[in-house]
Amino acid sequence: MMIIAHISDTHLDGSERALARARRVMRYLRGCAIDLILVSGDLADHGEISEYEQVKAELVADVPVLMLPGNHDKRSAYRSVLLGTDGDAPINQLHRVGGVLFALCDSTIPGRDDGALAPETLEWLRGVLAEADAPVVVGLHHHPIRLHNPLVDGIGLGNADEFAAILQRAQGVVAVLCGHAHAAAAGSFAGRPLLAAPGVVSTTRLPWTTTDALTWANTADLTDPPGVMFHVLDDDGTLTTHVRTAPE
Ligand SMILES: [Fe+2]
Ligand SMILES: [Fe+2]
Repeated sequence: MMIIAHISDTHLDGSERALARARRVMRYLRGCAIDLILVSGDLADHGEISEYEQVKAELVADVPVLMLPGNHDKRSAYRSVLLGTDGDAPINQLHRVGGVLFALCDSTIPGRDDGALAPETLEWLRGVLAEADAPVVVGLHHHPIRLHNPLVDGIGLGNADEFAAILQRAQGVVAVLCGHAHAAAAGSFAGRPLLAAPGVVSTTRLPWTTTDALTWANTADLTDPPGVMFHVLDDDGTLTTHVRTAPE
């Protein structure tokens, strides 16, 4: 059994507010008996070097902290500070933690808020899944299914059909984990559990919870406490997810 703590969208930008919320979540997680932490993108708000230095300093724990990029991240600065590499190629990473493989895909399109898996990322994922010798958790920033929130659905993963085709042919994929929506949400994708982590920095309001006409200016609820998902992955591949908010 493995416990994956899943957080997302810290949007660290040097502000006290974003920093306080990230620290609140990390303080909570450091007190939990978990096997790893996955941060599913939008680590930084503007993709600045100084923001990644904050990511590197704050998103740390005694267990592995895996991260992947979102639409607010910039590949070159991300690579430079967090990976010690150059260039702006998609940041696709394979990690092995406690007998589980984490295939983390870069779903960003530089300069845009919606997402897609680039041809080289699809090829990389195909190869990883073909050679996998352990259960695989696939992570990416953009949600590949409709979440029924019109604003968020307008900037989802564009080529979800190509992504689904790869997963459907693969053995061993136990879950698909994403962020971006700033909303704890559960669904299924390509026959696998699909979980979107809550946003650390804010929560998106849902159309049916308010009579306001939601716009990008008012969709973020800044008062909701930052949330965490705990995915319990059993040895038989069953995934059970719990959601909590980080206490002050
Ligand atoms: Fe975000
Ligand atoms: Fe995002």
